[in-house]
Amino acid sequence: MSIEKTFARTLVTSALPYANGYIHLGHIAGAYLPADIYVRFKRLSGQPVLYIGGSDEYGVPITLTALKEGILPKEVIDRYHSANTEAFERLGISYDIYGRTSWDLHSDTTQAFFTKLLKGGHIDQQSMELWFSEQSQKFLPDRYVKGTCPKCGYEDATGDECENCGAQYAAHDLINPRVNIPNDSSTPVLRDSKHWFLRLQDFSAQLKEWLDGHDEWRANVKGIANGWVSELRARCITRDTDWGVPIPLDDAEVEGKRIYVWFDAPIGYVTNTRQWGIDAKGDSCAWELWWKDQSTRMIHFIGKDNVPFHAVIFPAMLMGQGDYILPDNVVGNEYLNVYNRATGKAEKGSKSKGNMISVRWFIERFSRDAIRYYICAIMPEGKDAAFDWDEFLNRYNGELCDVVGNFVHRSLTMTVKNFESKVPEPGAFDDEDRALLDSLPVQLDGIAESIENFRFRQASERLIDIGRRANVYFDGKAPWTTRKTDMVRTATTLYVCCQVVRALCTALVPFTPDGAAKLAGILGVSLPVGGPDGGDDGWNAAKEGLPAGTPLQQPEVLFPKLDPEVVEALAVEHAAGQAT
Ligand code: MF3
Ligand code: ZN
Repeated sequence: MSIEKTFARTLVTSALPYANGYIHLGHIAGAYLPADIYVRFKRLSGQPVLYIGGSDEYGVPITLTALKEGILPKEVIDRYHSANTEAFERLGISYDIYGRTSWDLHSDTTQAFFTKLLKGGHIDQQSMELWFSEQSQKFLPDRYVKGTCPKCGYEDATGDECENCGAQYAAHDLINPRVNIPNDSSTPVLRDSKHWFLRLQDFSAQLKEWLDGHDEWRANVKGIANGWVSELRARCITRDTDWGVPIPLDDAEVEGKRIYVWFDAPIGYVTNTRQWGIDAKGDSCAWELWWKDQSTRMIHFIGKDNVPFHAVIFPAMLMGQGDYILPDNVVGNEYLNVYNRATGKAEKGSKSKGNMISVRWFIERFSRDAIRYYICAIMPEGKDAAFDWDEFLNRYNGELCDVVGNFVHRSLTMTVKNFESKVPEPGAFDDEDRALLDSLPVQLDGIAESIENFRFRQASERLIDIGRRANVYFDGKAPWTTRKTDMVRTATTLYVCCQVVRALCTALVPFTPDGAAKLAGILGVSLPVGGPDGGDDGWNAAKEGLPAGTPLQQPEVLFPKLDPEVVEALAVEHAAGQAT
C-alpha cells in the first residue's frame, strides 16, 4: 500500500548520458523531455524543484573510442560533454546544473560511498579469473574482449555479459574469446585479478519492502525491479582500467584498477547537487537538504535499460549510506524507434545503421517547440514508439499550429482590430460562454494531474483539447459575422476567447516554452520562474483570467508551420544516414 505523503521539495534527475556520442531523439524521448516538462511545470507552480543532470564520463566505451581515434579519453569526454551541454540548452532541457563525473568532487563523493559500504560490511573482495591480452599486456574489462555467448550463441558478447540475451557468466565460459582493441586481435588468456564486490543481497529485504510500498510505479519498471530483487547477489564494482574513480584503499592491488562506471555514475547525481549548492548558494552543505531530508521527493527519469541501476542497485547503495532518501518514483520510458519508409517498419536506432537523429542536427533545422511537441505527443510511455517524418509534420502542423496556434491567432487578431488592442468588456454571458469559461480551470487541473502522474502524452492531448473546444466555440459564435450587427455579443465572445488564450499561455509553458513566452509577452502576463526555493503559483494564477481592459500587444504567429517540402527533403537526408 502506498501512503500519500506530502513533500516539501522535489529533486529530479535525468540519466547522465555517456560522453561518448551525440545525444539523439531517442535519448530525449526517454529521460530528458519528460523530466523537463515535469520540472517546468513544478517551477511555474511555485513548488521547490531542483533538476540535476550531467555527463557520464568513465567506462570502457570511452577508452575504446580514445584508442580508436588515437586521442586521450579526456579529449573524448570534452568533445561530447560540450556538444551535449549545448544540445540540451538549445532544446530547452533546463537543468539547474549539468555536471561531469570527471570532476574531482565526484571522486570524493564516490569514494565516500564506497568507504561507507565497505565499513558497513557490504563490500567483499575476491580474486577472479579474467581475460588478459599478452600482446597489449592488459586485462580486458567489458567490451575489450568479445566472444560467443555460452547461452544464446550471440557472437558479439562481451567478457561477462551478453547484450543479446542478457545472460551473465564467468569469463572462462565465453566461447572463442578474441581481444577487441584496435591493432590487437590476439587470443586472450585467463589471469587472476583481485576485485571488489557489492553485496546486494544484504539489502534484499529492505529493497523488497520498499518496492512493495510503491504500487503506483509504472508496471514495466516494477516488473524489472522485482525480477532483480528476487535474485540478488554480489556484483563486481571495480575494473582493470586506469580510467575511472580510484579505489580508496590502502592495498597494493588497487594498482591499475578503478571503480566500475556503473557504481560511480548514479552517484554523479549527488556530486552535481553538491556542486550546484556551492555555485548557486555558496554553501557546501546545501545538497544535504536534497538528499537527506525525508520531506524531499526524489524522482529519477530514465530509459528502460537503466531500470535495474535506478530501481535496485543505486537504492541499495543509498540504503548502505544510512541517511539518504530513496527515489519516490523511477519513471522509465520504453524506446523511441525510427520509422523506416523503405521497409514500412519501425526499427531500433543504431549507430551502425546510421538511422539516429542527433539533437544537434535536428535543432539546426527545426524550432525546439516543434520537436518538443511532437516527441511529447508520441512519448514511449507504456510501449515503444517510432519517430516518423510524416507524423511529425502532421501532428505539429495539424495540432499545435492549426488547433492551438490558430485559435490564439484569430482570437487575438480580432480583439486587437475591433477593441482597440484591449481585452473587451463582456456583456451578459450565455450558457456557451459560461460552459467554456467554467471548463478552463478544470482543463488546467487535468493537465496538471497528467503531469503529476507522469502521463505526458495525455497531458499534451489535454492541452490540444483546450484549443479544440475553443475552436468549436469560436466557429459557433462567428464573431466575424456578429461584428457587423452586435458589438456587445462580439465583445463577449472575444472576452471569453481571451480567457482561453490566457489559460493556454500557462498550459503551454512546460511543453513549448518559446511559444508560451511569446504569448505571455503579447498578453502582458508575467510567468513566475520558480526554482529550488519555489515561488509564486503561476499555474493556478491562470485561473484568475485576463481582466477586461488588459492591453494586448500586436499578435504574432506562435508556432510557424512546417513546410512539407522542407520536411520531405530532410527525411530523405535522414534516410541517407546524414542526420547523426
Ligand atoms: N550513461 C548511462 C547510459 O547512457 C546512464 C547513466 S545514469 C546514471 O545508459 F545514473 F548512472 F548516471
Ligand atoms: Zn546471449
